[in-house]
Parts: sequence; C-alpha cells; structure tokens
Amino acid sequence: MGRLVVVSNRVALPEESRAGGLAIALLDALREEGGMWFGWSGRIDPHASGRLHEQQDGNIEFVTMDLSEQDHEDYYNGFANRTLWPLLHFRMDLVDYSRDTYAGYQCVNALFAGKLAPLLREDDLVWIHDYHLIPLAKLLRERGVKCRIGFFLHVPMPSSDLLAALPSHQRLFEGLSSCDLVGFQTERDLERFQDYVRLFGRGRVIERGLMEAPNGRRFRAGAFPISIDTRRIAELAAEAVNKPSVKRLVASMSGRALAIGVDRLDYSKGLPERLRSFQNYLHRYPQQRGQLTFLQIAPVSRGGVAEYRHLREELEQLSGHINGRYAEPDWTPLRYVNRNYPHSTLTGFYRLAKVGLVTPLRDGMNLVAKEFVAAQDAEDPGVLLLSPFAGAARELDGALIVNPYDIDGAGDAIAQAMTMPLAERRERWDAMFRHLCAHDVTHWRRTYLQALRDVHLDIDAHAERAEDEPTEREGGTWHERRTGGDRRSGGERRIPLVAPAPPRH
Ligand code: F6P
Repeated sequence: MGRLVVVSNRVALPEESRAGGLAIALLDALREEGGMWFGWSGRIDPHASGRLHEQQDGNIEFVTMDLSEQDHEDYYNGFANRTLWPLLHFRMDLVDYSRDTYAGYQCVNALFAGKLAPLLREDDLVWIHDYHLIPLAKLLRERGVKCRIGFFLHVPMPSSDLLAALPSHQRLFEGLSSCDLVGFQTERDLERFQDYVRLFGRGRVIERGLMEAPNGRRFRAGAFPISIDTRRIAELAAEAVNKPSVKRLVASMSGRALAIGVDRLDYSKGLPERLRSFQNYLHRYPQQRGQLTFLQIAPVSRGGVAEYRHLREELEQLSGHINGRYAEPDWTPLRYVNRNYPHSTLTGFYRLAKVGLVTPLRDGMNLVAKEFVAAQDAEDPGVLLLSPFAGAARELDGALIVNPYDIDGAGDAIAQAMTMPLAERRERWDAMFRHLCAHDVTHWRRTYLQALRDVHLDIDAHAERAEDEPTEREGGTWHERRTGGDRRSGGERRIPLVAPAPPRH
C-alpha cells in the first residue's frame, strides 16, 4: 500500500503544542497510516516563496514551504480569506474579489503543485484539504501526477446561486473534477455542490455522488462528517479537572453555573448574536440573574483581514456594554477572553459547564460542539445549544437547536438549559455521546480513505474490461453507458470512472 500524503494550508509541526481540530484529525490519520504532510510552513520569507523545510517525526515526514509577504497577502489574506471564506459561508456582502488576489491564489497553488509533484510516487494516496487548495488537484495532474487524489472541504458548500456570483467560478470549481473523490461535511453540502455542477458548472450529475465535468472526466463525491477522538476527549476532560487552571476557574465561580463558548474570532461564528442572546436572557429572566456566568473564549484570528479587526472592536464594545449594564460588585456576567488555551484545558472547561453555546451563523461541522458533548460528566451532563447552521446539528439531535438570528429564542434556550431536569439532560446527552463513539475521527478518516481507494478499484475494473467493451467516449448514448453500453444484457452495472491521461511536461 502506498503512502498517505496529506496536503493542507496549515501543518501541525511536531514542536507546536497547540493545534486546531482539523490539524489533530489529520495528524492522527498520518500516525495511523504513515506518510507525508505537505503545506505552508507558517513562515514568511522576505525574498521569495518556495523554500522547503523537511522534518521527520516517527513515520511522518513533514515538508513545508515558506511564502513571500506578497504571496501570503494575496493567497491567504486575500483570495482564500476575503473572497472564498465569506462566499463559502453564505456572506456575499463580505466577498471582496480582485483579479490580483485570484492570480496570487493560483500562483501559490501552482507553487504547491510544482514542489509537491516531484515528491510523489505512483501508488501514493494524496488527500488535499480545504478551500485554500481547490485548484491543486488539477495543477498536479497537469504536472503528470497520476496517483489517486482526494479533496475534502471542511467548510460549507453554499447555494449554487452564490457560487455562480464569483467571477471565474467555473474555472475554479472545475478543478475539483481532477480529483477522484470530493468529500463534504454533510449531505446538504453535497446536494448544493451537485446543484452547482448541474446548473452553473457546465457538468452533469450522473447519479448521486457521481459527476461528469465538461471535459468528460468523471469523479465521485460524498458526505463524510468529520469528528473527534471521542473517548480520548472524555478521558482528557475527566483528567483535566485536576489541572490548576481548571481548579482556578471552579474557585472563581463561587458556586455559580458556567456557560461556555469557544470559537475563533470569526464572523461566521455568530459571536455578536450570541452575546446579544445572553444579554436578552439576562434582561428577560431576572430571577436567574447572578446564577450563571458566561465565559466566551475567542482567540484572535486572521488579524490581517479588516473584517476580523472590525468584529473584534464590535465584540469589545458589546461585552463592555453587557457587563456595565448587568454586573454586580461580586459578579461579572460575561467573561470575554481573547487568548487560546491548551486543548486539554479546554476539555476541562467544557466539563465544568452547565451550558455549551455553539451558535454559528454557518459552519462546516464545528468540532467544539462534539468536544463539548464528549467532555461531559455522564452523571451530570451539561446542555448543548446548537445552531441548525452548523454541520454538527445533522448528527447531534440531543442538543437544543437554537437559531442564532432569533435573539429571544436563544435567550429562552439558555433559561431552559439552566432549569432542565437531570433525567432529560442525561437522556439527551446519552444519545449524542453514543453517536459520537460510533462516529469518531477514526471512523471519518477510514471511511473517507476507503472510499478514495475504492474509486480506483472501479478504474482498475474498467481497465480489465476495456478490451471487449466500449470506452466512456465511444460508448454511445448516455443510457447505453449507464446500462453498461451493452444492449445484449440490458443489465445495470456500476459505472467505471475514467482517469484521463494527464498532459506531460
Ligand atoms: O476549518 C476551516 C479552517 O480554515 C481550517 O482550514 C483552518 O485550519 C482553520 O479554519 C483555522 O483557520 P486559519 O488557518 O486561517 O487560522
């Protein structure tokens, strides 16, 4: 079996103590399979992009690349985070498109392809991650890479009308058809992508999860909801209650209940709406005032992008306003913290909390929701308030589903969580925890990688049949191809995928 080669914008290098959910999930995949992780080094080279750094850690080889200031600005701050990020999170109002940043994004993707292609072997399994690297598969194929390539989108796939508003959307999204398997977080994301292919992408949906690009190349797509290491998080949380930082938090609560939110400081997370919901709760439930303290942890993110700086200012004002209005000499209702904490400490914080607030306006999955559930004490679990616009809501049906735009409804839900009987809390939690044990991060990566390997089994099977069957190109009508191109049998069979020969350089 070939190596697993993971490609992502960020790489969790061995010396880095903190890594986000995505990075942890990928690190586990690589530890299990062995292989290479290729991505941005996190460093800016004052001169030029492209310097490589190599580092071996156990069975994982880390290969990272520096970016120049200009490339980082155009690719990361520019097209990835000022164009694609808002677009993919349904925020057309925040989309800032320019030909220059798009060119920079293409250029960095081409650089990734140019550096990575010579390192690849024919039997490698390449797994590309997220919206930073949408054109990469196509650029690798153009450099003669023939191995299996998968792509996974960690963020939402928006409605096709929104995608179609992006200048040069066809050129960009067609690139995904160079993959063998495109993975999404939820079935809804898959459906929206199929709509896009059909309505605006000049392609065809042959059957659910099987598409054809305008150039005739077929590729598969599916929903693979990402998850967490459920049992590990449960263990970490149980141990974390003995950590000094967690004990200090307990002591500071003076017996009051804790509500918690943990999010990157990002407009997709619905943070102003969440603070207003808490304010609404304080206003409309005066009898509960003083019983609950809300800790919102929001590490600063993407500070190079103006919208994130404006959001930070808005949250500072709002939190000051809420505390000014409702605080008592011995109680501050809202603790708003911009720093990050070690992952294990966060699991301890989750375990202490009676209420978990995960109310994004849009989110691909949201692993905080899953971690909050995994971290709870089975004897006395907290209540999760979850937005229907997070991918996690498709799975965590024991949560209180809260529309983040409904400030009154969210205020009511906080009050409901505060008074929910223990039996109901247990019942809700138990169903979610059992689901997360069966659908953990290992399940996610194995299911995805198996599906990616199986796509190629189809191709192999096709190659074996090629001599006595018509090819995809010459196979006559669509109906004939669908039924095997064989009028003799008339029977259904699986449609083989055809990998076109990539151009040679
Ligand atoms: O999950 C979406 C994502 O963009 C990941 O790709 C990324 O690792 C994470 O959010 C954090 O964002 P950033 O790398 O821009 O800090």
